Amino acid sequence: MALRALAPLSESDVDELAAGRLVIRDNAFGEDLARRSREVLLGWREQGRLDAAGVGRGGKIARIRSDLTAWVQPDDPELTEVFVLFEGLRQGLTRDLRLSLQRFAVQAACYEQGAAYGPHFDAFRGDHSRRVTAIWYLNPNWRPEWGGQLRAHLPEGPVDVLPRLDRLVIFLSEQVKHEVLPALAPRFAMTSWYRGAEPLPLLPDPRFG
Ligand code: OGA
Ligand code: NI
Repeated sequence: MALRALAPLSESDVDELAAGRLVIRDNAFGEDLARRSREVLLGWREQGRLDAAGVGRGGKIARIRSDLTAWVQPDDPELTEVFVLFEGLRQGLTRDLRLSLQRFAVQAACYEQGAAYGPHFDAFRGDHSRRVTAIWYLNPNWRPEWGGQLRAHLPEGPVDVLPRLDRLVIFLSEQVKHEVLPALAPRFAMTSWYRGAEPLPLLPDPRFG
């Protein structure tokens, strides 16, 4: 099956991102792939492959974040197509945002009944690791009364986004504070964080060696 390519970001999308807002694409990677990916994650949950998420360096702070996560490996046979699409997005973002996004990592997350993630940034200013966040939602027929909205704190105030099947949300990791409101039904998503080049190691300065 041919993979669909995501339409390039328009100039106004680029302006929105730069201003600390969201770009939201529905029908992003294909509903069929989104449904199949959800099935894969349901299987992982059954097999105990999802763990309590860590916050920061190694901490497991349920108060901040109570979802279950797993890193997706590029060679995972069940999710190869998803990886190819996130790689295509990396190339598109590099081109359209004129950012050097050389690497990315993909995390699968499941919010069970009542799980939430308090307000946070995905990267800290000046720490040039994570530059762009892209979240792809995997929840057919999500109902507003189930909660689980992504709440993004934009310059003009908060906006809530429902985690609908095959919806992709993109924002600059250092700029948009966001949170996940408590979900009343299992809520699945895959998040890709795009990063710049690995910083060069600090070598001793030969003049002072
Ligand atoms: C995250 C995150 C938001 C979402 O994983 O850092 O903020 O809507 N996820 O799943
Ligand atoms: Ni986040």
